[in-house]
Amino acid sequence: MSDAPHSQEEESHEGFIRTPKQLMAVVVASFVVPVVIIIMLINFVAWDSKPAAGSDAMTAESVARRIQRIGVSDYKDVNDVKSMKSGEQVFQTQCTACHSTGAAGAPKLGDEAAWAPRLKTGYDALLNSSLKGKGNMTAQGGGDFSDFEIGRAVVFMANKSGGKLDEPKAPAPAASAATK
Ligand code: HEC
Repeated sequence: MSDAPHSQEEESHEGFIRTPKQLMAVVVASFVVPVVIIIMLINFVAWDSKPAAGSDAMTAESVARRIQRIGVSDYKDVNDVKSMKSGEQVFQTQCTACHSTGAAGAPKLGDEAAWAPRLKTGYDALLNSSLKGKGNMTAQGGGDFSDFEIGRAVVFMANKSGGKLDEPKAPAPAASAATK
């Protein structure tokens, strides 16, 4: 009778560590577990600076783009007529999206009936619409060309559609020299 309570008491004192092996396991775990937790926390905190898989956010190029100075000059030499796009090139790059398909109600290339009333307004008016936009067409049809290139594209389109416009003159060197 006296034995039973005693052994129970002993058991509760000893807890779950009963053998030297278990003691070793507990000692090792009490070192390893905090270290693992610390490593995981460091990883968690440093996560931000790691690029996501497949992201190019940290490539040299995109970093350079992020830190480039504002107002970098994208200067086009308006006198360099040779490097400018021809009317056809501009058309193929930019204008064809709408003016070949008639998208958004654009007058189609070669559709003389659609162009006749517009051609009557004259080259200057057509150029003006192209540069500033008209109706569903945004400025330059959304392009980024020099005014001269747009002029060439207008002439290209107009002359394919029943017009007889002259090729626009290259910008006068004197005039643009003054604006340099
Ligand atoms: C997003 C479609 C779109 C693109 C791209 C586009 N246009 Fe147009 N364009 C239109 C539409 C729509 C009209 C008819 C506008 C109206 O009369 O309301 C138009 C009309 C014109 C006209 C006649 C303007 C007038 O006064 O009647 C010219 C010239 C013209 N475009 C030139 C160009 C040139 C040059 C480009 C390429 C640099 C270009 N467009 C690109 C949609 C486009």
